[in-house]
Amino acid sequence: MDFRPKITVERYYLYYGDFCALRDVNIQIPAGQITAIIGPSGCGKSTLLRTFNRMNDLIPNVRVEGKVEIDGADIFSADVVELRRRVGMVFQRPNPFPMSIYDNVAYGPRAHGVRNRAKLDEIVERSLRDAVLWDEVKDTLNKSALALSGGQQQRLCIARALSVQPEVLLLDEPASALDPISTFKIEELLRELKKHLTIVIVTHNMQQAARVSDYTAMMMLTSEEERSGTVIEFDRTVTIFTNPRDPRTEDYVTGRFG
Ligand SMILES: Nc1ncnc2c1ncn2[C@@H]1O[C@H](COP(=O)(O)OP(=O)(O)OP(=O)(O)O)[C@@H](O)[C@H]1O
Ligand SMILES: [Mg+2]
Repeated sequence: MDFRPKITVERYYLYYGDFCALRDVNIQIPAGQITAIIGPSGCGKSTLLRTFNRMNDLIPNVRVEGKVEIDGADIFSADVVELRRRVGMVFQRPNPFPMSIYDNVAYGPRAHGVRNRAKLDEIVERSLRDAVLWDEVKDTLNKSALALSGGQQQRLCIARALSVQPEVLLLDEPASALDPISTFKIEELLRELKKHLTIVIVTHNMQQAARVSDYTAMMMLTSEEERSGTVIEFDRTVTIFTNPRDPRTEDYVTGRFG
């Protein structure tokens, strides 16, 4: 496949204590594209996604082997604060901080040392515009973020992630708790954002993966006894959905799995 890889994963293993959750993962995430990660529950989608900004570091007894690089540089020897600035994350449940809309978005830039009010105002507006939330909140920036609807909260979390100008945005089932209209807004937004960003999205929704992504990674357990997950197939989304190489992928995307 002819693309520039943003993230390269080779012979990657992740253990929770003695349990091998990810086994021999090999994948390249294309720059400036949307990659969907699909697969049955428990096959390690979230674990793989959390690898890319080293969120698994926060879990005790996690051990990793193998290579994970961003732009050709090893992520495990990178400065983790800078890595997480470059690689932002949005979770399944919107998790705004219990503070104002403005302060949620200004949080990251402030933590990275931006103090100038005009500069912060500019970052907050740009981030909220990029997350397609500005028009709905521009008159209520000092209100609590917790008063927003679920769909608005999720776009606020995207704005918060965008505020520090990341290069990669990771989203773990970002629309699974949202209504169809909010889901549609998020999908539209991702298509817009990929002009400047590399996006990786975990989703259980096959229609969503087909609609929104350019490439798809299919994950599966290596065996029932072992219960380790791995990437069994990676290709253009249209190939995964119309002409996959692996019969397990076909069973999964056509809904015949389990
Ligand atoms: N903090 C943890 N400690 C121990 N085991 C864990 C931890 N987090 C996940 N696991 C295990 O690792 C495996 C992969 O979990 P993960 O959450 O990555 O799967 P997933 O594909 O995201 O599932 P789902 O679709 O249900 O979200 C599972 O067997 C899970 O029980
Ligand atoms: Mg998960």
